[in-house]
Amino acid sequence: MGYPHPPNPKETLVLSKHFGNTAARTFDGWVKLGGYEGLKKALAMPREAVTEEVKASGLRGRGGAGFPTGLKWSFMPKNDNRPHYLCCNADESEPGTFKDREIMRWTPHALIEGCVLASYAIGAERCYIYIRGEFTDPWAVMTRAVEEAYAKGVLGENVMGTGKRIDIVLHRGAGAYICGEETALMNSLEGKRGNPRIKPPFPAQAGLFGMPTTINNVETLAATPHIILRGAAWYKGLCLGDPKSTGTKLMSVCGHVQRPGNYEITMGTPMKDLIFEMCGGMRPGRTLKAVIPGGSSVPIMNTEEVDRCRLDYEGVVACGSMLGSGGMIVMDDSTDLVYQIMRLARFYAHESCAQCTQCREGTAWTTRILERILAGRGKPEDLQLLLDLADNMTGKTICVLSDSCAAPVVSGIQKFRSDFEAYLSRNRQPALVAT
Ligand SMILES: Cc1cc2nc3c(=O)[nH]c(=O)nc-3n(C[C@H](O)[C@H](O)[C@H](O)COP(=O)(O)O)c2cc1C
Ligand code: SF4
Repeated sequence: MGYPHPPNPKETLVLSKHFGNTAARTFDGWVKLGGYEGLKKALAMPREAVTEEVKASGLRGRGGAGFPTGLKWSFMPKNDNRPHYLCCNADESEPGTFKDREIMRWTPHALIEGCVLASYAIGAERCYIYIRGEFTDPWAVMTRAVEEAYAKGVLGENVMGTGKRIDIVLHRGAGAYICGEETALMNSLEGKRGNPRIKPPFPAQAGLFGMPTTINNVETLAATPHIILRGAAWYKGLCLGDPKSTGTKLMSVCGHVQRPGNYEITMGTPMKDLIFEMCGGMRPGRTLKAVIPGGSSVPIMNTEEVDRCRLDYEGVVACGSMLGSGGMIVMDDSTDLVYQIMRLARFYAHESCAQCTQCREGTAWTTRILERILAGRGKPEDLQLLLDLADNMTGKTICVLSDSCAAPVVSGIQKFRSDFEAYLSRNRQPALVAT
């Protein structure tokens, strides 16, 4: 439910059920709403069984990559005396994505519950929640909730009377997009510059402070107590499309729809139901032109693809893009796609950590070519130049920020070529002043 919108009958409210209810923010309020029951049940199970249940549910990471969560937890070494860590990725800087902040703002104990549950399953005594620097409100709410959880014995040396120790440390970032990448986040937590690390080693082998670490997104972790409480079969049953995509997904919808906001859908829901029914369709007198479905780092979709797309990991790939973080940017026929793609390229150029030549030079060069086209000074060979550049930026760098910049450029040229050609043929007034 995308507060302040009332729930739509086509939504399935699990994580967002209590958005907008201030009572859900307090420990007592959360307990009255059935909170901490999933954790209680998990703590009474052997920890391997908790991981197996999450594995059986089919839950996949909601941070973007869609990696199976239970499988990731199972990579943590067993019979190992070193400290294990859980990192919760609450950086949420992906353009168009605004769901994790709402989980933290309205249901902070849902995240704490998920973090303690996951820490127990992977054998971690400490969990770091890395919160994006700009999130003043979620930070304040989470700080109060963690204090309360300590006071009520959910955190600390005797978690819910089990004799087990689990601590949560809140860490506020400084507002860098790249610190959402898992290994950059760990470097940042260690007090280093937030540069992604070369993998392998993977975090489960050598992560935070060189120790075995699991990193999960806020939405992923918040889903786990529901899975333990109601069972893997229930979660698996939440599926309208491909059986490899289960559960609910918070879709952050922004742009030219009548009712932008967060909508919690069952995996496999048709994309057109989300846009035209739940979000109320386009603004009056306008028609749909394009959608970027998974945060800005994925290929752009055209109307034919939107029309046949099911919102799950496989469904969006089958329609030429990726589900990613579920941040959907909807654009109507008034949109200048060349301008929008240039704005995205500028963002990636600004946020590149600059370790890799292909990314450092490629994002900046892509931006300059797009600015040149928009200023009415494009050359006929510019489109091929952009495609060649994108090719050199894809699959060749330490992390996928470089690929993320290339994806909207390539799909934009392939699917909306006439927008570019209007500038190149000088049939469209320049949108930027030539410099
Ligand atoms: C440039 C970049 C930025 C990212 N930003 C975020 C982010 O803000 N939040 C997030 O959860 N994952 C982000 N990710 C994905 C993380 O690296 C990682 O896959 C995720 O936190 C794993 O959690 P999950 O398995 O629960 O999805 C980003 C990845 C890249 C390459
Ligand atoms: S791809 Fe870009 S952001 Fe990622 S490590 Fe290389 S330079 Fe840094």
